[in-house]
Amino acid sequence: MSGTGSGNEQAGKTAEGLEYLSGFGNEHSSEAVPGALPVGRNAPQRAPLGLYAEQLSGSAFTEPRSNNRRSWLYRIRPSAAHPPFTRIDNGALRGAPFIGQDAAVADPNRLRWDPMPAPAAGTDFLSGLWTLGGNGDASQRAGMAIHLYAADTSMTRVFSDADGELLIVPEQGGLLLHTEFGRLAAAPGQVVLIPRGVRFRVELLDATARGYVCENYGRPFVLPDLGPIGANGLANARDFLAPVAAYEDVAGPVEVVNKFCGNLWSATYDHSPLDVVAWHGNLVPYVYDLHRFNVIGSISYDHPDPSIFTVLTSPSDTPGLAGVDFVVFAPRWLVGEDTFRPPYFHRNVMSEYMGLIEGAYDAKTAGKGGFVPGGGSLHNMMSAHGPDRETFDRASAAELVPQKIDDGLAFMFETRWPISLTRQAAEADHLQARYDDVWQGLERHFRP
Ligand SMILES: [Fe+2]
Repeated sequence: MSGTGSGNEQAGKTAEGLEYLSGFGNEHSSEAVPGALPVGRNAPQRAPLGLYAEQLSGSAFTEPRSNNRRSWLYRIRPSAAHPPFTRIDNGALRGAPFIGQDAAVADPNRLRWDPMPAPAAGTDFLSGLWTLGGNGDASQRAGMAIHLYAADTSMTRVFSDADGELLIVPEQGGLLLHTEFGRLAAAPGQVVLIPRGVRFRVELLDATARGYVCENYGRPFVLPDLGPIGANGLANARDFLAPVAAYEDVAGPVEVVNKFCGNLWSATYDHSPLDVVAWHGNLVPYVYDLHRFNVIGSISYDHPDPSIFTVLTSPSDTPGLAGVDFVVFAPRWLVGEDTFRPPYFHRNVMSEYMGLIEGAYDAKTAGKGGFVPGGGSLHNMMSAHGPDRETFDRASAAELVPQKIDDGLAFMFETRWPISLTRQAAEADHLQARYDDVWQGLERHFRP
C-alpha cells in the first residue's frame, strides 16, 4: 500500500503528474493522509493516526537560525527500528581521503575523461556509482567527492548517505526518486539535491541512466548572495521544487544501504523506511531545472568571472570561499565589444571539474576524443587551462556581432582544495591520453 498527498500549502502539478512545493529554504509542510500532520506542536503525546514523530537534523541544534535546517517526520515506524548494519563491498564508490590501494598520487596535469563505459547488466544507481576524486575528509564534514554513475536497472534497495548531501546531475535518462519526503522526477538538464542522511531509491525512467554526482561533505548548499545584482537573478528560489509527502506501507524484507565515513553498510529491514506519511520543515530534497537559470553577463566588454554562473554554493567559515560551488554554463547571448568572448586563459587557486550535459561547450572543440556529454575534465589547483587552439584562433578572428550560445549545457564543480584522484580514475581506460594536445601549437604572435 502506498499513498500520496498534497502540501498543506498550495502545490503545483507538473508534466510527470507529480506535485511539488516551491521555494528553496522554505518551511514546507505536507501530508499524504489528511490529519497526519500535528498542528501547533511537533511531538504530541500521541501523534495523529498512530504515527511516530521523529526529527531529522541537518545542522547542529544551536546553529544560527539562518543556517538551521531540520524537518519533523511522521512515520509508520521510527527510523530507530532497524537491525544492525554490516559492511558490504563498496563497489567503485570511495570516500575521501583516499588511502592505500584506493589512492593515486595527486596530479598537476590537465585531465579529461570520455563518458563512463556502459554498465554491466543489472547495475542500479548505487552499484553504478564510480568515484573519480575528491578532497577533504568525510569524517570531518569538510570537502567533496565527484562521482559518475551509469545504470540500467531500477533500485529495489534504499540508500542514504551519512557523509554528505548529494547533488545528482543526470546526463542521460530520466530518474524518479522515491524519498522519505516523497517523489521527485529529474530529466537531463534538471538536478536533484538530496540532504545528508535522507533515504531514497532511484527508479530509472529510461532503459539506461548516466550522469554526475557531487557529494558535498561540508555545509549544505545554499543559493549564493547576490550583492549588487539585487533581489532577483541567477537561480531563483521559487524554481527549487520539493516533493509532497508520499509513503510506502510495505511489509517484507527491504535492503537499506548506508554510506558512512566512506564505506557502505547494509541492513535488511522488515518494512520500507520510505514510510513517512507527513512532514514539515526546511530540510528537504529539491529538483531544479537548469534551464530556469537566469544567466547574467556583460553587456559592454570582457566577461565576468564564471562565479556569475553559480547555482548553489557550500560556504566555508571564510566569506566567499566555497567548499564547493555548483556552476552552470547555460544558453546565453554574447555581445561584448572588443572582447575575447570564450572563457579566458586561467590559473586558479580553486580546482575545477567540468562536465557536459548536452551539446558543446564554447571553449572546447566537441566530437570524439574531445569534451563530450558524459565526459569530464579536471583542471586542478594552479593548472593552466583555457580555450583550445582551435577556439582561440576562431574567437580571435570572429566578427563581434551578437551571438547566441544555445547548443550546450555544461557545469562545473569548483572547490577550494585540490582534487585527488582515486586510483581507478587515474588508471581508467576512458581517461584521455592526449588532452594536453588541445593547447599545443598556440603560435607565437608577439611582434615587439
Ligand atoms: Fe578556470
